Amino acid sequence: MSETLAPARAEARSAGASPGAALSVRALAKSVPGGRQLFHDLDLSVRGGEIVAVLGESGVGKSTLLNILAGLDDPDGGEVRIGGEPVGPLDEAGRTRLRRERIGFVFQAFHILPYLTLGQNVGLPLALVRSDAHAIGERARAMLEAVGLGGRADDYARDLSGGELQRVAIARALIHEPALILADEPTGNLDPETAGRVLDLLAAAVRRTGAAAVIVTHSRATARIADRVLTLTASGLRDDTATKGDSDGR
Ligand SMILES: Nc1ncnc2c1ncn2[C@@H]1O[C@H](COP(=O)(O)OP(=O)(O)OP(=O)(O)O)[C@@H](O)[C@H]1O
Ligand SMILES: [Mg+2]
Repeated sequence: MSETLAPARAEARSAGASPGAALSVRALAKSVPGGRQLFHDLDLSVRGGEIVAVLGESGVGKSTLLNILAGLDDPDGGEVRIGGEPVGPLDEAGRTRLRRERIGFVFQAFHILPYLTLGQNVGLPLALVRSDAHAIGERARAMLEAVGLGGRADDYARDLSGGELQRVAIARALIHEPALILADEPTGNLDPETAGRVLDLLAAAVRRTGAAAVIVTHSRATARIADRVLTLTASGLRDDTATKGDSDGR
C-alpha cells in the first residue's frame, strides 16, 4: 500500500540549509545537561510538499531535535527557520503563535487531554484561533473519521487505548492544516493496517496543503512514504534515501 504513495520526488537530495525552505536548519548543536553532545553541525532543509523521515537509535536525540525544531527546546548553537522566520529570537508568546499558526506536532507521548472529549481534543488547535464552534466540531468529526475514529467524537479521551490516542494526536496535529508537520513516532503504537491508513492520511495532508513534514520513526514502512530518509547519528544527519527500499517490513 505504501509503495503507491512513494512519490517520485527524488530531486531534493540536499540536506543543507536553504533560505526559501519551509524548514531550514543550520549548524545546529545540542548537548544534554550532563554534557554529552547529541549532535553538532546539523544542517537540514525541507521544502513545502516534502516528507523527510528521520531514523536513528533510541537515545540518539530524535525527540530532542523535533522539540528544537518546534521551539520547545533551545539548541546550544545554530539556527532554525520556519517559513524563513528564525525561531531562536522569538519569546514564549512568539513561539506559541508560531506553533499555533504553522506547526502540527505529534508528540511521542501524545499529550492528549484525558478529560476532554476526542472532538474537543482534535478541535483544540482551531478553537485557539477561531470561534465558530459548530464548524470546528464538524471538522474535528471529519478528522476523527479519517483516522478510523468516526462516531467517537463525544467519547472521553481518558478511556482510549494507546493506538487510539495516537490517532487522536495525529488528527489534532493536522486539523489546522499546518505548514510544518513534526511527528514523533506517529505509528509506533499502531497495528500495520492502521499504521498504513495513518501514513496515507499524513501523506495526503502533505500533498493537499503543501506542508513540509519531518517524521521521526523506527519503521521502514514510514520511511517508504518519505521523499528522503535521513539517519540521525552523533555526527549529524546521514542521507539514507538510496537504501529506503531495503525494508524489513516493519
Ligand atoms: N533534560 C535532560 N537531561 C538529561 N538528559 C536528557 C534530557 N533530555 C534528554 N536527555 C537525553 O538525551 C538523549 C536523547 O533523548 P531523545 O529523547 O531525544 O532520544 P530519541 O532519539 O528520541 O530516543 P527514542 O528513540 O528512545 O525516543 C537521551 O539519552 C536522553 O536521556
Ligand atoms: Mg524519542
